Amino acid sequence: MEIRTVGIVGCGLMGSGIAQVTATAGLPTTVVEASQELCDRGLSNLSKRLERLVEKGSLPAEQKAAIQGRLRGTTDTAQLSNCDLVIEAIIENLEEKLKLWRSLDGIVKPEAILASNTSSVSITQMMMAVRRPERFLGMHFFNPVPVMELVEVVKTLVTDPQVYETDVEFTRQLGKTPVRTTDRPGFIVNRLVIPYMLDAIRALEEGVGSIPDIDRSMKLGCGHPMGPFILLDFIGLDTTYYIANILFEEFHEARFAPPGLLKRLVASGRLGRKSGKGFYDYSDPGAPKPLDQFQPL
Ligand code: CAA
Repeated sequence: MEIRTVGIVGCGLMGSGIAQVTATAGLPTTVVEASQELCDRGLSNLSKRLERLVEKGSLPAEQKAAIQGRLRGTTDTAQLSNCDLVIEAIIENLEEKLKLWRSLDGIVKPEAILASNTSSVSITQMMMAVRRPERFLGMHFFNPVPVMELVEVVKTLVTDPQVYETDVEFTRQLGKTPVRTTDRPGFIVNRLVIPYMLDAIRALEEGVGSIPDIDRSMKLGCGHPMGPFILLDFIGLDTTYYIANILFEEFHEARFAPPGLLKRLVASGRLGRKSGKGFYDYSDPGAPKPLDQFQPL
């Protein structure tokens, strides 16, 4: 089976990034959002990203127009009926995802592949909402989607091997590098990166180093593109807290337990870049300032 048309549900940060990648790879892409306003906002952010590429000279202007010509925004899920692949990238909430998949099951053609971009909700639980669980899998993209090369392709106990291989190959056609993984919480990347970031918070709590010094250490000592606190703020402290709790519930291991400081930051509304403050204050986005009260004693 060849994937020639793609549907994406959700046009937030992840959904609009995925749409940019599929449309750039030459695929007609239909994006569905809950309201026209959200749809317009997602596609306008996508257009700004393409515009920046044109300004930098890495995308010819006529290609921008061609990419945008392949994108269609709608609020009507019925428009997905003929898509060969539907990727869901809505809010990380099991009930919302189940509701969506139950409704899409009656709309999307039977031979289509169904994928979720979730990083933390069980693919197995979601697939039980459709009458073709063997055609259901996970495609986990990374933020920022147009830049990060990796996609975790997630299979369940019942994913049809042919469907899985088709999707792995399709991921390559998008210019991404697929890795194969199974449906366990965190898959590969979050299983490793979440305890790493939680350990950075524990190191800060214990006074091992300051926020900028811990960040500097991992950038300059290990070659990471971002230190753990900049990364935490980039991913979102609420998202990290949520994923850590899911990992802890599954594995009951101390390394996945969210530290108290993370919990208190989330409870205070300090969610990272998206709220303007997390471990850093982003009032001046070009020069984030570490929050003083977290310096070691
Ligand atoms: N959208 C699109 N493009 C972006 C971008 C964005 N949000 N942010 C940066 N870029 C592009 C820039 O335009 C630039 O492109 P060119 O090379 O063509 O000029 C390129 O990325 C590099 O950007 P910068 O020079 O501004 O900055 P940088 O070198 O620090 O790179 C970064 C930025 C790519 C984000 C880099 O810091 C990085 O790789 N950070 C780690 C990100 C990461 O770990 N992501 C995974 C998070 S975990 C996750 O997503 C999983 C989950 O489930 C929670």
